[in-house]
Amino acid sequence: EMTLSCLLFLLFTCIWVTALRYLRKANSKNLPPGPTPFPIIGNLLELGANPHSSLANLAKKHGPIMTLQLGQVTTIVISSSTVAKEILKNHDLSFCNRTIPDAIQAEQHGEFGLAWLPVSAAWRSLRKISNSHIFTPQKLDANEYLRRAKIQQLLAHVQECCDTGRAIDVGQAAFNTALNLLSNTVFSIDLADPSSKFAREFKKLVWGIMEEAGKPNLNDYFPILRKIDPQGIRRRMGVHFGEMLKMLDRLIVERLKQRQHHDYESKDMLDTLLNITEDKSEEIDRDQIKHLLLDLFAAGTDTTSSTLEWAMAELIHNPETLSKARLELEQVIGKGNQIEESDVSRLPYLQAVVKETLRLHSPIPLLLPRKSSSDVEICGYRIPDGAQVLVNVWAIGRDGSTWDNPNSFVPERFLGLDVDIKGRNFEVIPFGSGRRVCPGLPLAIRMLYLMLGTLVHSFGWKLEGGLKPEMMDMDDKFGITLQRAQPLRAVPVAL
Ligand code: HEM
Repeated sequence: EMTLSCLLFLLFTCIWVTALRYLRKANSKNLPPGPTPFPIIGNLLELGANPHSSLANLAKKHGPIMTLQLGQVTTIVISSSTVAKEILKNHDLSFCNRTIPDAIQAEQHGEFGLAWLPVSAAWRSLRKISNSHIFTPQKLDANEYLRRAKIQQLLAHVQECCDTGRAIDVGQAAFNTALNLLSNTVFSIDLADPSSKFAREFKKLVWGIMEEAGKPNLNDYFPILRKIDPQGIRRRMGVHFGEMLKMLDRLIVERLKQRQHHDYESKDMLDTLLNITEDKSEEIDRDQIKHLLLDLFAAGTDTTSSTLEWAMAELIHNPETLSKARLELEQVIGKGNQIEESDVSRLPYLQAVVKETLRLHSPIPLLLPRKSSSDVEICGYRIPDGAQVLVNVWAIGRDGSTWDNPNSFVPERFLGLDVDIKGRNFEVIPFGSGRRVCPGLPLAIRMLYLMLGTLVHSFGWKLEGGLKPEMMDMDDKFGITLQRAQPLRAVPVAL
């Protein structure tokens, strides 16, 4: 009897192992091609320090749709405009959810934040609020004066450096200005005010969040580690999120008090959101408002400021483009006048400069991660349910089959070309596309034109230490946004 049960056990084990093998094989059947994975770590080492360019190189070998095994996470990487269109437009519904980085789960932000919620009633409601109440042309026109005042401050700061011949860290100045433009648009508060404790703490928190979010986290590739959190990223993010949410709560309480005055007039985004909770025209409560504001700051500051730094670096690196942009501003706006948001439609060259900058230096080079919500066939391959999908917009922007001299900065290529950057032309999609396209795009664009137009129109620029433009280091480095490897330090000079 003993032998019989032993035999049965052996037989059962054999069947089990064979079935498992078969299942695994069937599962990997018809996946897009890709580099061979190592045991356990898979293809993690292939990512290197600059995943956007390593993945672009791998795509040259394996094609525009490829599979990588990142630890335990099956990842599909898209590297051409044609396949990106398949994913983001033709099959948008299957790819409109996201894989959520572990750090974002701190303080349950993944379950509340607009950028992370799965497409659901809660997400739809937040998107509707963004699209129809916050980022509409009317609302943005109405609070333009808040931003104009901040541009005056930037001008004063640059003027001071110009008078004393000091160099500016352009990225730093852009970060402060973008944060200030955003905070004034959102809740009429000046975050650049060095005498305000609130401003100092808030800024520190935004930085802290960016820093943690930019670190590669083992928890994301090996979910089994999440309980231990070996690098402590989720724990530190929890502290930052917690403090930020507390500060936002204090702000809301204060505002609610101010709003009790009978002659109080709504002025900014916070008022818009509180009006909505009061008249119940959409579903949103105080907790959701806090998480929404957190996402707006996290998504809107560094992206905008690093784009501005790149635009200035490219213009200084290619002096003839700087002269052209300045000439256009002089002709359209006139010397000594300040650029207004409404001038932009008459500044095609400045628009082309911004498009060309975003083509070459998309600040979120792999978009925010998407996730497939069923088995889907794309270009004859199977993308399995639950796979992470990354769209390499950096590679798409530099695709030699779409763009002549893809690595050169040539704004002229966009003149007379009916290509915009709003997610309709898949050759250049720095804001993503489809249902989850960046909702902040209209504000981002206004802030960018305002800052760039001002810096180009009001000053001449030379590099610190007499560095020649052709000697500039134009390398990038991967992080939460794609920053310059060497921060741009430039001296403003009187024109
Ligand atoms: C999402 C880019 C500025 C708020 C995104 C995505 C990208 C992006 C690539 C993901 C899109 C996708 O998955 O298809 C950028 C760039 C910016 C910028 C390049 C500046 C140059 C802003 C600003 C705000 C903002 C100023 C708000 C103040 C958001 C939010 C999401 C998002 C809330 C998540 C939307 C969702 O998941 O439904 N952005 N963004 N962004 N962006 Fe932006």
